[in-house]
Amino acid sequence: MPRRIAILDTTLRDGEQAPGFSMNLDEKLEVARQLSRLGVDVIEAGYPVTSPGDFASVKEIARVVRGPVIASLARAVEKDIDAAWEAVRGAERPRLHVVLATSPIHMEHRLHMGPDAVLELAAASVRRARSYCPDVEFSAEDATRSDPEFLARVLQAVIVAGATVVNVPDTVGYSVPEEYAELFRRLRAGVPDIDKATLSAHCHDDLGLAVANTLAAIGAGAQQVELTLNGLGERAGNAALEEVVMALATRSDALHAYTAVDTTQIYASSKLVQAVTGVRAQPNKAIVGDNAFAHESGGHQAGLQANKATYEIMTPESVGLPTSRMVLGKHSGRAAFEERLDFLGFHPRPDTMPELFAGFKDLADKKKAVSDRDLEALVLGVSAKVPETYRLDRFVINSGSTIAATSTVRLSSRDAGNPERASLLERVSLGDGPIDASFKAIDKIVGRHPTLEDFSLNAVTEGKDAQGEARVRIQFGAKRYNGRGLSTDVVEASIRAYVAAINVMVMETEDAREPDCGS
Ligand code: KIV
Ligand code: ZN
Repeated sequence: MPRRIAILDTTLRDGEQAPGFSMNLDEKLEVARQLSRLGVDVIEAGYPVTSPGDFASVKEIARVVRGPVIASLARAVEKDIDAAWEAVRGAERPRLHVVLATSPIHMEHRLHMGPDAVLELAAASVRRARSYCPDVEFSAEDATRSDPEFLARVLQAVIVAGATVVNVPDTVGYSVPEEYAELFRRLRAGVPDIDKATLSAHCHDDLGLAVANTLAAIGAGAQQVELTLNGLGERAGNAALEEVVMALATRSDALHAYTAVDTTQIYASSKLVQAVTGVRAQPNKAIVGDNAFAHESGGHQAGLQANKATYEIMTPESVGLPTSRMVLGKHSGRAAFEERLDFLGFHPRPDTMPELFAGFKDLADKKKAVSDRDLEALVLGVSAKVPETYRLDRFVINSGSTIAATSTVRLSSRDAGNPERASLLERVSLGDGPIDASFKAIDKIVGRHPTLEDFSLNAVTEGKDAQGEARVRIQFGAKRYNGRGLSTDVVEASIRAYVAAINVMVMETEDAREPDCGS
């Protein structure tokens, strides 16, 4: 009889924790809403004690997002547990997640505690968490490098203290599948009250084994698995949600397990995370990469025409990949536009619809046919609700192989005191090429000089009128900000991306609100 496996998504916590993947509150909220549509069982929304921003986003996700359990992470420290509870208590179904390391190396060098003290602290922390919340997960950090006997004692103690979920993380991605499976079998046999809690797996990908280890744990009795979209996460990342879920959906015959995930929402979810983090999935990434369902060789194409199953073990439709040839054009109305977005699995906020429709009309004027890929690019470009302090008004480039590039950029700037009023600001700059010159002209207008950390250009649609997508990551002070711009002109796409990143920077540096952390 196949078993139902609960999916805990930790894109917003373990995924966001990785350098360069930070999201602002609106972006996290949008991802959380999409995770709810995707049908995950638990959304780990953040780690509230780490920053006022994390506290605020857990609180808002808990207040707004309905459906999944909302989990909030805390170390085994009283003030962490109190802050995590303060942030998540408004959720329909809150969960407190307490973590404490159990491996000799962590206990000795990081915690400076002996095993008995760790065992006592683990139980006391779970008791404190249970005094607030009926659903408490305990994670034995670095479980796979812990003494299995000691690990079993800790898990028994926390279950007695009230833990409803016990997690066995391969924190440093050290395990190999058969060994991880054996640890699960051993814990199921060696922890007397193991059946009173849900047994969970959490794998990192340092050796590229996170998905394999997760599936091995399922085979050995794990009832919950912890995953991230696109495999985001610390270092090499976590087990990728789309890979584990599709492995279970495609090979339920071998794995004897299934999930409640709506797999047709996978593609839209992955794309949303790519858009808000500014980090594209590699083209050959399983399930969600651009090439995952592309068939280039003639022999394969002929096989597919004869019978799709020759080279396709799952259909693109099953993961929500837009495959339709239907195109919209400049005569298409708003109803057709909205219907198409709905079909593609995109549910933009109603307040962004006028901007999206205007963007679509603009594009339809430049291109004869607006494809599904164009629409996807458009929606993802307007996803985050960042105030447009600066907006591109116009630019003029002078460039060539024998002259230094010059760019004149004019931005309209919103008056902070009166958002209805805008002024036009224009500057000119020289640079190493038209894009560099444009970015320098923008720095002069804004009066700040962030470091450009990353810049990429990609064609997101096909043909000579393809839309170019530029992504930039800038660093200002200790923080990084992402921006994305789209246009059929690559310089314009780059300027738009840079201005978008500047707008996030302005929002976060001038509008930093300190939420009440309650401790
Ligand atoms: O990898 C890890 O150990 C974690 C815990 C907080 C579950 O992320
Ligand atoms: Zn982790």
